[in-house]
Amino acid sequence: MPPLRFLCILSLLIIGSQCRDVSFKNVKLQTGINQTVATITEDTTIKPYLPNRPLDFLAITGRIPVLYENSITDITTVKYLSLWKNQIEEIRPGAFRNFDGVQRFDISYSNFTTLKRNTFGDLKLKTLRITFNHQLETLEEGALDNQHIEELSLASNALKTLPKNVFKKMTNLRVLDVSANALTEIAPEFVGANLVRVFFAYNKLTGIPDGIFNKHRSLQEVDLSGNQIMMIDSAAFDDMVQLKNISLGINKITKIDRRWFRGTNNLRRVHLVRNDIEEVPDEAFSNIYNENLEVIDLDENSIKRVSPVGFKGLRKIGSLRLSINNIDKWDASFLADVENIDLLDLSSNRIGCPEGDFNQVFKAVSTDLKFNPLNPECVEKIKNWKKLDSSNGHIISTNF
Ligand SMILES: *[C@@H]1O[C@H](CO)[C@@H](O)[C@H](O)[C@H]1NC(C)=O
Ligand SMILES: *[C@@H]1O[C@H](CO)[C@@H](O)[C@H](O)[C@H]1NC(C)=O
Ligand SMILES: *[C@@H]1O[C@H](CO)[C@@H](O)[C@H](O)[C@H]1NC(C)=O
Repeated sequence: MPPLRFLCILSLLIIGSQCRDVSFKNVKLQTGINQTVATITEDTTIKPYLPNRPLDFLAITGRIPVLYENSITDITTVKYLSLWKNQIEEIRPGAFRNFDGVQRFDISYSNFTTLKRNTFGDLKLKTLRITFNHQLETLEEGALDNQHIEELSLASNALKTLPKNVFKKMTNLRVLDVSANALTEIAPEFVGANLVRVFFAYNKLTGIPDGIFNKHRSLQEVDLSGNQIMMIDSAAFDDMVQLKNISLGINKITKIDRRWFRGTNNLRRVHLVRNDIEEVPDEAFSNIYNENLEVIDLDENSIKRVSPVGFKGLRKIGSLRLSINNIDKWDASFLADVENIDLLDLSSNRIGCPEGDFNQVFKAVSTDLKFNPLNPECVEKIKNWKKLDSSNGHIISTNF
């Protein structure tokens, strides 16, 4: 028996005082920095201390070792409630009840290691953010069963795994952020609902197998940047008809697989920056061609070779980024199919001179060739071309 509990029962026997689970001792309620509306010397609940007026924001500050059952209840006049730097070591199931009125609830910078079953019950929250709890490693099954929450952030905790079906009952969930944790894998069926955006950036994922993301037809944005991903199954992103943005930057991908994104033909932004890709293979992106393609970002890879038909099929594109690679050959024919392109970034490569008709080479509104070892004849040729009407206002960035 914990010593406090023992003392409490002892005092109950001797002087008949109530045994109460005191969550709050010297805790403040604040509506802003330095704006304290109440100080709780010692109590089991914050309810009597809440101001009578509606509040946009209320933070509970000060140390709270344990949040006992029913300690934060009947919050009807606060829109955004925050538990901030409380060093909470344990949150008991049922600690939060009747949050009608609260739209957003944050629990940040505390010390609990586990989120227990039935912690959030059916609180009518839109947004729940449990972030920067650097010891939070475990989610119990049922910890997040809630049918109201639309946005959930679990970013910057220490989660190592997500239990199977942990988000399954969150039927209204639209945005899920699990960035900056320590996940090594994502279970299939990690979500059942109509999720729109997911963020798994900065975890320890090494591969994306078939069956995790594909067939989630509602997903519009997937962020997997900053992991250690080497392997992506050919079918991993198939048939994601709504997918518009995918971030795979800052990983360990060595090859572009032209079979990726089959049936995922609304993609607008494909980020592959800072990987270990060595080649743009034949028809690398032909699966994703659509009229609204905005960005293909291959900056900071180790690309040596671009297949002559690497970009075959692309007709309209916003930015094609190939900066900081090892490309030594660029030919006008590489973009033969392209009708419109805003930016072609070839800066920081090893190009001596682009080959072929300059009207084709420089068809982008803006072409960046800075930090390439352009030979003297090439420099002259580009200068002359710039002077001619044929350059038509197109911008070529060089170091001369
Ligand atoms: C809050 O109070 C501290 C100490 O009195 C003061 O240094 C600080 O400037 C105040 N901050 C704001 C935003 O008023
Ligand atoms: C909570 O964690 C912080 C940061 O790790 C630490 O400084 C603090 O002492 C911890 N508090 C308790 C009560 O364990
Ligand atoms: C895709 O990314 C762009 C640029 O960051 C952003 O403006 C847009 O809202 C994103 N779209 C979706 C569906 O997430």
